[in-house]
Amino acid sequence: MASYLRYIVLIPVLALFDSAALGQEQVTCEVCHEAEAKQFFSSVHSAAAVSCRDCHGGEAAYLVDAQQRTSPSFDHGPSFSGKPTRFEIPERCAQCHANVSLMNPYGLPADQLMRYRTSGHGKALFEKKNEAAAVCTDCHDVHAIFKASDPRSRTHPLNVPDTCGRCHGDEAMMSEHGHSVEIMDEYRASVHGRGLLEAQDTGMPTCATCHGNHAAAPPGVASVNTVCGKCHQQTEQFFLKSPHAEIDSFPRCIACHGGENSHAIQQATIRPKQLVARFARSPAASDDHALIESLHPQLSLLTESCYECHDEDSDLPADLEAFKRSEEMYGMIGEAEVAYARTMARIDVVGRGVLLVEDEQLMMADATTAVAELGPTQHMLQIGEIASVIARLSASTDAVNVSIDEKEAGLAWRYWILWPMWGFILVFGVASYVKYLRLKAIHVKPLP
Ligand code: HEC
Ligand code: HEC
Ligand code: HEC
Ligand code: HEC
Ligand code: HEC
Ligand code: HEC
Ligand code: HEC
Ligand code: HEC
Ligand code: HEC
Repeated sequence: MASYLRYIVLIPVLALFDSAALGQEQVTCEVCHEAEAKQFFSSVHSAAAVSCRDCHGGEAAYLVDAQQRTSPSFDHGPSFSGKPTRFEIPERCAQCHANVSLMNPYGLPADQLMRYRTSGHGKALFEKKNEAAAVCTDCHDVHAIFKASDPRSRTHPLNVPDTCGRCHGDEAMMSEHGHSVEIMDEYRASVHGRGLLEAQDTGMPTCATCHGNHAAAPPGVASVNTVCGKCHQQTEQFFLKSPHAEIDSFPRCIACHGGENSHAIQQATIRPKQLVARFARSPAASDDHALIESLHPQLSLLTESCYECHDEDSDLPADLEAFKRSEEMYGMIGEAEVAYARTMARIDVVGRGVLLVEDEQLMMADATTAVAELGPTQHMLQIGEIASVIARLSASTDAVNVSIDEKEAGLAWRYWILWPMWGFILVFGVASYVKYLRLKAIHVKPLP
């Protein structure tokens, strides 16, 4: 027994002496592939004890001499599978990632390959044999793979536009496959793109939010609603009550927000604060119509979006009804916004004088909520619904104006009441002076 043990210890030691005598040393993959190894060892895979050999095969270690270490070619052994081709990569990753029992302990879904096959990318790769289509490693990197929450990851929300943009911003590649590169600039300049890339707000949709991580298909016209509605739930509910929601072929949200397509979405509404600030800067003499234009220029722009479908010269009942409603609705909204801004400005001016306006400021809270509701509510395209929001708004503005009128009337009254007092003080002063002169004449006589 003891002699066996001795051999178990001795054999590797002797082997080392042997190899040392031959100028050989025992090396692993990272000795010759420093660059790949460096990336790999910081990755989520290295932490999960995945090894180079899981993806490439090869031996656990090799006995090599100095010459082999620097030789441009190397025999990695019979179990070596080499560098996977782009066509092999999805299945190579899926060895583990489609294995539910392997992924479960990490709380990861095992559906990536299945979804990928249904995507535009997967179909292009497997069916059209199009090597340019994105494979797993294009979106996740080859060796430097991290969780999406890691800022170093290509799938971190802030990095996704660049990850997709490496191909979708590549003019030569995209024109070959019939896609436009403009979507990249359109997205970056959109309300969502600026929110994500400039304000670093990760609540904004990235390319992958709308297209899906693995099932990257264009959400065709019919399913756009499910994409936008994920975040704009209330607005979607309102839209679903509009006459357009009943039309199957209606391109939904992007009919009015998309411009050329769905990537150029811009901010549509004016915030209550913006209304007030713009009112303060607007020329005093302008009439209400000009005022509405300067407070909320997009309003008329969006009215024009109706003309895209409802022919201006048409006398079809639906078109006539559409025009009537759009004119009426946006007119009502514009006037309500002017009334709101005017009241807020009045509170501001009065507050800078001697009157206290804290109560009025509190009373405007309801109006501010109502003004912010106009944008979402108009998606119903129902005059009655808009009118009821405006009724709440007017209730506050009317009450505030009445209250300020009363305070100002009170102030005027107090101002007038001062006149008799001043008169009394004046008369009293004059009388005192006369009295003084008389007393002086009686009592202060010059010495003889
Ligand atoms: C999760 C699977 C995976 C693991 C683990 C992995 N690789 Fe790779 N490796 C790949 C894939 C896929 C490619 C092919 C990338 C491509 O198409 O450019 C690749 C490419 C390579 C290449 C060729 C690079 C080139 O530019 O030609 C080398 C060398 C390499 N890997 C070494 C390693 C080493 C060393 C390790 C361990 C430290 C390792 N790999 C771990 C998947 C893996
Ligand atoms: C003694 C140095 C050495 C060691 C150790 C070594 N390699 Fe290599 N490897 C090379 C050289 C040299 C090449 C370049 C071309 C060739 O001969 O295939 C290469 C190429 C590769 C490639 C690219 C093959 C292709 O088809 O382009 C991969 C992948 C790779 N090695 C992975 C590994 C892995 C995994 C290990 C560890 C199991 C490993 N290597 C260990 C020297 C080494
Ligand atoms: C040998 C098994 C194995 C192979 C092959 C493999 N992975 Fe993984 N991968 C794992 C394990 C295990 C984890 C879980 C690590 C963790 O969450 O800590 C993981 C995690 C990941 C994650 C992070 C998931 C998350 O959000 O937590 C990504 C992304 C990933 N792998 C992509 C790939 C890609 C791309 C390939 C192919 C190039 C690949 N994997 C090949 C085992 C593997
Ligand atoms: C077009 C880009 C793209 C391709 C191709 C792609 N992924 Fe992903 N993958 C993502 C994005 C984006 C995420 C989600 C990040 C997040 O959670 O925000 C993700 C998430 C993951 C995760 C974390 C778990 C999950 O499903 O959310 C794993 C694991 C993963 N991918 C593996 C793969 C594998 C394996 C392939 C190839 C079959 C692949 N990915 C192909 C972009 C891609
Ligand atoms: C490696 C390059 C590459 C990357 C990275 C890439 N794509 Fe693609 N994508 C393509 C190519 C090429 C096509 C055209 C495939 C075809 O139809 O032949 C395509 C097609 C598409 C399509 C249209 C699918 C269809 O059915 O018409 C969408 C949507 C898409 N990509 C979204 C994305 C998103 C989102 C990302 C990032 C998460 C991304 N792509 C990353 C190369 C890429
Ligand atoms: C707010 C949701 C949303 C975001 C964010 C988004 N897309 Fe799209 N995308 C869509 C919709 C909806 C369509 C279908 C538009 C149509 O049919 O006109 C589309 C179509 C596409 C198409 C196919 C049509 C074409 O013109 O080639 C590609 C490719 C694409 N998007 C890539 C991207 C990329 C890359 C990003 C990130 C820079 C991105 N998308 C961000 C919603 C979005
Ligand atoms: C991942 C969530 C998400 C998705 C999906 C999404 N959005 Fe947004 N969107 C936001 C956020 C967050 C804002 C910023 C809200 C703000 O600033 O008040 C925003 C802002 C907007 C605005 C400007 C709002 C304003 O106050 O004027 C419009 C218009 C818009 N989105 C339309 C769309 C359309 C159309 C789609 C579908 C093609 C869509 N969004 C998909 C999250 C999303
Ligand atoms: C993408 C095209 C499109 C756009 C943009 C569009 N509509 Fe419509 N609208 C339609 C269609 C189609 C119908 C159904 C016509 C019919 O019933 O003959 C319709 C019907 C209507 C109706 C119902 C008419 C009735 O018969 O009761 C109203 C109201 C309406 N639209 C208002 C508007 C307003 C307001 C706008 C702009 C904010 C607008 N539409 C923008 C396509 C559009
Ligand atoms: C018929 C044209 C039309 C359609 C269809 C439409 N919108 Fe709007 N959207 C508008 C107008 C007009 C405004 C208000 C602009 C303003 O106040 O200046 C607006 C404002 C918005 C806003 C900012 C106000 C708010 O609701 O928070 C968002 C977000 C928005 N739309 C999302 C959507 C979504 C999501 C869809 C699809 C479910 C959609 N829109 C469909 C015309 C439309």
